[in-house]
Amino acid sequence: MAAPPPPPAAPAPLKRQGTWSSMMDEWRTKGAHESATECNAFVLSLVATLPPDARAVPEPTATGKALYDWLTVKVKENMFQRRKKKFPSCEVAVLAVALKHSGLWREARAASEALAGGAAPASVPASPAMVVLWKRVRGVREAIDMAMKKLAHGEMPDDGVDADSGDEDGEGGAAGGAGGGGVTELQAPTRLKDSLLWDLQRSFYDEVAIGAWSEAIVPNFVTTNAFLASAYAKSIMGLIRDLFDSPSAPGDRAKPLYIVEVGAGHGKLGFLICRELLRMREFFPAGHGLEFPFKYVMTDFTAHNVEFWMQHASFAELFEMGVLDCAVWDAEKETSMTLLRSKEVLSADSGLVTNPLVVITNYIFDTLRTDAFRIVDGELQETRIAIDSSSAADAEEPTAPSVIKRMSHRWSYEAVPADADFFGDEDFNYVVRSYAERLENASFMVPVGGLSLIRSLSAMSGGRLLLLTGDKGYVREAELEGHRDPHIAVHGSFSVMVNFHALRLYVERLGGFAMTTPHLDGFKCAHFFLGLPREATMHTRWAFKNNIEEFGPENFSTLQRCIKEECTNPSLKHVLALLRLSRHDSEVFYKFKQVLIDKTMYPYAADNVQRDIREDIAGVEETYYPLQSSKDVCFEIGRLLMGLKDYRGAVGYFERSNELCGQHHVTYHNMGICCYYLDEFETALKCFDASLDLKPDYGEAADWRKKLLAKTQSASSGHAWNSEEDYEDGTDTE
Ligand SMILES: C[S@@+](CC[C@H](N)C(=O)[O-])C[C@H]1O[C@@H](n2cnc3c(N)ncnc32)[C@H](O)[C@@H]1O
Repeated sequence: MAAPPPPPAAPAPLKRQGTWSSMMDEWRTKGAHESATECNAFVLSLVATLPPDARAVPEPTATGKALYDWLTVKVKENMFQRRKKKFPSCEVAVLAVALKHSGLWREARAASEALAGGAAPASVPASPAMVVLWKRVRGVREAIDMAMKKLAHGEMPDDGVDADSGDEDGEGGAAGGAGGGGVTELQAPTRLKDSLLWDLQRSFYDEVAIGAWSEAIVPNFVTTNAFLASAYAKSIMGLIRDLFDSPSAPGDRAKPLYIVEVGAGHGKLGFLICRELLRMREFFPAGHGLEFPFKYVMTDFTAHNVEFWMQHASFAELFEMGVLDCAVWDAEKETSMTLLRSKEVLSADSGLVTNPLVVITNYIFDTLRTDAFRIVDGELQETRIAIDSSSAADAEEPTAPSVIKRMSHRWSYEAVPADADFFGDEDFNYVVRSYAERLENASFMVPVGGLSLIRSLSAMSGGRLLLLTGDKGYVREAELEGHRDPHIAVHGSFSVMVNFHALRLYVERLGGFAMTTPHLDGFKCAHFFLGLPREATMHTRWAFKNNIEEFGPENFSTLQRCIKEECTNPSLKHVLALLRLSRHDSEVFYKFKQVLIDKTMYPYAADNVQRDIREDIAGVEETYYPLQSSKDVCFEIGRLLMGLKDYRGAVGYFERSNELCGQHHVTYHNMGICCYYLDEFETALKCFDASLDLKPDYGEAADWRKKLLAKTQSASSGHAWNSEEDYEDGTDTE
C-alpha cells in the first residue's frame, strides 16, 4: 500500500508588530503618508501582520475604510504613472490583493517577504508574479471597495465577489449586495429596466467621456483589438461580395454600404476596421459605382466622444477619403441620425439606406437598459432592484457618477402574469412569454435597450440589417436555467451579462437568423441577420465561420493573455508569431515589447529576422491609435529601432512619442544617444540638455553629456555604442 501523503508544511509564523488600528494611527500622525518610502515601509509592516489564513483576518474592520482610501490612491498613482520600469509601491498591490483574494495570501506574503528581505524599499523589479498581482489589483479595485464596505459594517467580505478577471482584458468586480446599517436607500425596489442605474450609467459616460479609456477605467482590449477588427472587416467584406459580386447581386451600386458603430466610445475599433477594409481594397468587387463601396459611421450618445474623434489625427485621412463619418446618436431614443461631416440623414425615409445596414455593437448591449425576470416552478417573476449608498449625501444627487463606487444593491422578486404587457411592444413581450412557456426554473435578462436599437436601425434600412456584436453573456437557453440574481460588474461604469439568446429569439421572430460563437466560456461574438436570406449571404456566413467561429476573438485574447501571464521566457520567434497572429496589434506589441527589444539585441537577431522585424514595426504603427499616454508605443518602437541600430528611424519615433505622449527626460536622453551615433553632436547635446531640463538629477543623461563633450573636445574617440550598459531601456508601463 502506498504511504499516505505527508502533512502539508505548517506556515511559518509571522511576526506581529501591533494592531492595524494603532499602526494606522501612528502612520497618520507622523504624516508619513507624504513620503513614498515611508508609505512603502508602512505597507510592509502591515503585510507583516497578515495572518496565514485569510479567513482569520483579525481586525481590519475599524481601519479598513481609511486603509482602502489610501490604497486606491496609491494604486491609481501607480497605474497612471508614466514609464515605470520598476514597480514602486507594488506592496500596495500585494496587500490589496491579499485583502480580497484569500487564495493568494501565501503568494502575497512571499512577495512581500522578498521585498522586505533586501530589495530597495521604494522600487523593486517587476517579476512575472508581481505583474500578475498588479493586474489583478487593477481589476479588483471595486471588489475591494465592496469588501471594505462590508468590513466597515462589521461583516466579512464574501467569497462570491467576482473579482477574478483583473487583467485589463477582463471586467471589474461585481457590485455587491447590501451592507448592514449606515446605508442610505437611493431607490426603493424598482423594475430593473426603470432603475436609476441606467441614469448613473449615462452620467458616467457623459461626464468621464474619453477619460473612461484614456485613464484605463473601462477595459476595452477584448472588444477592440486588431484581430477582432480584422475578423469583423472580413464579415463586412463578405457582405460586400454578397451584395455586389455579380451584376445580378442584389446591392444598390449607386450607394455605399453604411456601417454604423453604436457606442463607439474611444473610436479605436472604427479606426481599425476602416484600416482593415482599406487594406482589402483590391478585392472589392469591380463594377461598384463608388470608389469605396462602404461608409463607416461612428456614433455615441455623448457629444464629448464624437468631438474627440473629430479632432483625432488618426481619423483625418479617413474623413478626407469620405469613408468615415460620425454622429451623435442615442441608441435607446432616436430613430434617425445626421452625419456630422456629410450632413447626410440616415432615416427610414431619407432614401440613403438602400443597401442593408451593417451595425456594430461591441460592449454595448451590456451597457444599455436591461430588464430581468425569473421563473420559479413555472411562476414568472419580475426582478426588482433597490439601490443603496454608503454616503447619505448621495441622496441629494443620486445620478452623479461618483455614486457608482459607493452604491450597493438588493434584489427582490414579484410574481407577474405571463401575458402582461411588459414593454409596450409585442415583439419584445414575445421574448419573455416564450421563456415563460418553455422553462420551469430559470433566470434571464431582456436587453430592452438592445432590442430598441435593433428596432430603430432595421426601420432605417427597410428591415435589412447585419448586426455584428461582441460581449460577455449567454448564448444558449440552457445557460439560463436555475435561480440566480443578475450579475452587475463594476469597472468605473458597470455592465451586465448579455442574453444573446433573447436577441436571437427576437431576431428569429422578425424572420431573421443568428450565428454565435460555439463556446460557453468567455467573450462571445454573434452575427444577427435580418431581412437577409441565408442563401444570399454565403460569403458573410463563411467569414463568420472561418474568422470567428473556428478561432475567434475570444481564443485570440485568451491566448495572448496566457502567453503574457504563464510563459516566463518566451522566445523572439514566439512573440513575433503572436504579434503577426494579432494582425500587429499595437497593444500586443506593447505587452511584449521587452521580449522584442531584449531578444532582438542579445544575441543579435539574424539579418533576415531583423528585416522582418522592421516590417512588423510598420504593421504595428498602422494599428496604433494614440489613446493612453501611459502606453507610449512610439517610444517603445524607438527603443526597438535603437536595438536594430536604426538610429535615424528611432529619432523619428522618439519625436512622435514626445508629440503624442508628452515630453520625457528618457525620450530626450535616448534621442541624444541616437544623435551621438549619427555623429550629430550638436543635436545630441541639445537632447541631453533637454533631458536634464526635465530631470536635473538624471545621472545617465549627465554622464552621456560628459562623454559627448569629451568626444567633441578630443577627436580620438572610437567607441561604438553597442554595449548593454550604454543602452537606456527606460520604461515599462504595464
Ligand atoms: C462599455 S463602452 C463600449 C465602448 C466600445 N464600443 C468598446 O467596445 O470598448 C459603452 C459605450 O456606449 C455608449 N453609450 C452608453 N449609452 C448609450 C446610448 N444610449 N446610446 C449610444 N451610446 C451609448 C457610451 O458612451 C460608451 O461609449
